[in-house]
Amino acid sequence: MHRASHHCSGGYLAWSLLGTLQLGALYQVLQVVNAPQLAREVLDEGAKVAAIGVTTDEIDRIVHEAAVERECYPSPLNYHGFPKSCCTSINEVICHGIPDMRPLQKGDICNIDVTVYHHGYHGDLNETLCIGEVGSTTRNLVNTTWECLQKAIEIVKPGVKYRDVGAVIQKHAQAQGYSVVRSYCGHGIHQLFHTAPSVPHYASTWKDEQWPDNWTAVTADGKLSAQFEETLLVTETGVEVLTCRTEKNGQPYFMD
Ligand SMILES: *[C@@H]1O[C@H](CO)[C@@H](O)[C@H](O)[C@H]1NC(C)=O
Ligand SMILES: *[C@@H]1O[C@H](CO)[C@@H](O)[C@H](O)[C@H]1NC(C)=O
Ligand SMILES: *[C@@H]1O[C@H](CO)[C@@H](O)[C@H](O)[C@H]1NC(C)=O
Repeated sequence: MHRASHHCSGGYLAWSLLGTLQLGALYQVLQVVNAPQLAREVLDEGAKVAAIGVTTDEIDRIVHEAAVERECYPSPLNYHGFPKSCCTSINEVICHGIPDMRPLQKGDICNIDVTVYHHGYHGDLNETLCIGEVGSTTRNLVNTTWECLQKAIEIVKPGVKYRDVGAVIQKHAQAQGYSVVRSYCGHGIHQLFHTAPSVPHYASTWKDEQWPDNWTAVTADGKLSAQFEETLLVTETGVEVLTCRTEKNGQPYFMD
């Protein structure tokens, strides 16, 4: 993979910003950068155990413990009554799947969405994992989804419109024959878990439904849904991926 023009080093960023900041803001900058990095570490712990036969409840337990070990609160827990510490969205589940006792099966795709709250700030990311060998159609969906996010990140800098970001995503997805879910958006994040602005990924044709648990959102046609999310910091010159994976040159797990 190529890393394009955006940087992937929150620690370095914190130090380079410090030169231009007053001491009072020092603590804030460190936490803004820190929470997403800790969220990444927590997702890495969950991703490491996600395998054939493992329940999403077990992934949730690992995520919860990994968060607590890092002095983080898992933001989803009790968020509007959400019962678990992360979301696990399998196959046709678009998002907000609740970890449960179903063991993962060969060929599943499983998105793990982790948000942690650390010293006043949230960090948020999600990644779609392939469980065992998946079919080529499935792999192409996951790969295209990941490519959409990379293409979107590449254009982020001050002055770029949110709709331009959505347009890049929609263009690449449609070129590969996919549609983009419109009901859920990217979002601002800092001291609040979800805040303005809302960042649409745009849409063409799509339909989603909700399970009776009032959380789990699924595709109406039962087709697979994949997603990737990172926490970004827009800098004066471009963008910093605060939740970048530190291992394997930052590549997503499905490429391991
Ligand atoms: C991944 O994160 C994005 C941005 O917050 C969100 O819209 C999407 O629903 C999340 N996907 C899953 C499967 O949790
Ligand atoms: C889901 O929402 C409906 C309508 O608000 C409510 O009647 C129902 O009890 C909720 N279900 C659960 C599992 O919370
Ligand atoms: C992802 O798709 C690109 C473009 O089609 C292809 O070159 C690449 O090999 C694919 N990667 C994986 C891991 O499937």
